[in-house]
Amino acid sequence: MCGIFAVIEDKQNQAAQTVLAGLKKLEYRGYDSWGIAIKPMGGSTIQVDKHVGKIGIATTSLPDGSVAIGHTRWATHGGVTDTNAHPHLDCKKQIAVIHNGIVENYHELKIELIKKGHSFISETDTEVIAHLVEEKRKTMDLEEAVFSTFRELVGSNAIVVLDYQTGSVIACRNGSPLVVGFSPKETFLASDTTAFLNKTNSVYYLNDNEAVVVSKNERRIFDLIKQSYISFKKQTVDWTLEDTEKGGFPHFLLKEIMEEKKTIPQAFDSNKKTVEHVIKKMVSGYTPLLLGCGSAYYCALAAHYYFAQLGIDSKVVGGYEYLPFEKSISNKSIVFAISQSGETADTLIPAKEAKKRGAIVVAIVNSRGSSLERLADVTLPVGAGPEISVVSTKAFTAQLATLYAVANQYYERKPHTGLIRSSTQLKSKLKHWLNASLMSTVLNIAKRLLSEEHAYVIGKYNNYPAALEFALKLKETSYMHAEAFAAGELKHGVITLIQKGTPCFIMTDSGPSYGEICSSASQMKARGGYIIGVGPTRSPLFDEWIQTPDVDPRYSIFLNVIVGQLLGYYLGVGRGADPDKPRNLAKSVTVK
Ligand code: F6R
Repeated sequence: MCGIFAVIEDKQNQAAQTVLAGLKKLEYRGYDSWGIAIKPMGGSTIQVDKHVGKIGIATTSLPDGSVAIGHTRWATHGGVTDTNAHPHLDCKKQIAVIHNGIVENYHELKIELIKKGHSFISETDTEVIAHLVEEKRKTMDLEEAVFSTFRELVGSNAIVVLDYQTGSVIACRNGSPLVVGFSPKETFLASDTTAFLNKTNSVYYLNDNEAVVVSKNERRIFDLIKQSYISFKKQTVDWTLEDTEKGGFPHFLLKEIMEEKKTIPQAFDSNKKTVEHVIKKMVSGYTPLLLGCGSAYYCALAAHYYFAQLGIDSKVVGGYEYLPFEKSISNKSIVFAISQSGETADTLIPAKEAKKRGAIVVAIVNSRGSSLERLADVTLPVGAGPEISVVSTKAFTAQLATLYAVANQYYERKPHTGLIRSSTQLKSKLKHWLNASLMSTVLNIAKRLLSEEHAYVIGKYNNYPAALEFALKLKETSYMHAEAFAAGELKHGVITLIQKGTPCFIMTDSGPSYGEICSSASQMKARGGYIIGVGPTRSPLFDEWIQTPDVDPRYSIFLNVIVGQLLGYYLGVGRGADPDKPRNLAKSVTVK
């Protein structure tokens, strides 16, 4: 949700170009407009270049300079216009601000500032920050003015302030991510390390209520609560530059789907020691709550089914629906908070609340150094590598594999139970199946469905969450209206929707539910549905069939979901959508 990038002491005095390149890597965080502000080498004010639209092939003619800040926007307050794009300036163009989050009290602040003579040109909440710093500068030095401004902002925010006079940049965070990158001379600030991985992998993730002050010769971290500078330790990021590039694929989405051959097996085999620690808690009577939003919620639901199948009692809730259930959380709960970004407000807030009630929080997270990781008592990194496409694919399956591995390790340590070998079978079959032939089968089906408006997806047991995730991929990537139902639900009302030619996807496996799911499919067929089976066994009911390898039925979700990911991809491309950046979506949703 909005991407922030800044460079201080750009080696070649090409700060605007460096920021533009960094923003291009962050476009997945917001892509309705973008903008850059620079302290030019000559002149007497900050210069700004901002535009509506995607930054992909944009150029900027801002002048040379060594300090610049920039932003890709996902609009919250104010429409998508050049004026509302960040950075925002104070009245005298001496202060520029970029911002990720929502200033909940911006209206009150704006009224006060207008009374004091400030004039506003945008409809955004962000512009108040620039004017508030300007107002405070009348009586305070720059650092004090920025820190005091930040303390007045209500909500989850990260801000970066560029000061013309000193050429310093000050950034503060509370709730929205911000990471500092260090190279010997240059300093980078970004919402995400992927933006500056081509420059450095030495980083410091700002904690909530911390600020960084960067000027020509210093980079200092300030604790906004203790009101003092603190010593800090840099970390080294193990992601590589190649991880953040398309590597010959036309889109990140396709690259990331194909990477699942590697990321699923890795996720099953990682974290064994930490998982043991988690399991000790579960064995000693802690009840798991599985928590997430969007795809991460479907992952939670899928894990809930699998936990049950291995005799582990668990609860599941979408992060945004937590409140009514909070009383069931206690110091005997273990909360598995699932998130690719680790920054989703709807997941972070309930995780924090659960922690206050004494629960242990386990972060099942992909992005390292995230807020969720810092909040959690234990982290199980899912290790899928940077997921650049806005639509979650490899992170979803890696999260699920991590949770399956927890359940397997739990099951295997119980007396009189055997080893679960199903992941070995899945891993080896996945490697051969996820290939060009599968891509071409799915592509051909996508071509046939290009002009369809609606599709329905049914699944049973482990393949019910698979159906939900399958349908979400179609909706997000191709904008086709796709709805998932538990197969059993069909005859209780939903069947009214099936007409002649309606595409109906049937998620199958080789388990005991096959017969029942086929009978649901035959009810759809009887109403004229166009039946597309996904699974290991062809049924005469199927008009089309996308074959998946025969694995333990509880593991078929991994394969069936990949089919949905690929189908969403090809439908999206075919219907003219941008599969990496679907309309209206942001990669990490840091607002409630
Ligand atoms: C789906 C998708 C979203 C996210 C959701 C949670 O493709 O990308 O539904 O899964 O916004 O995001 P994280 O996992 O970052 O908490």
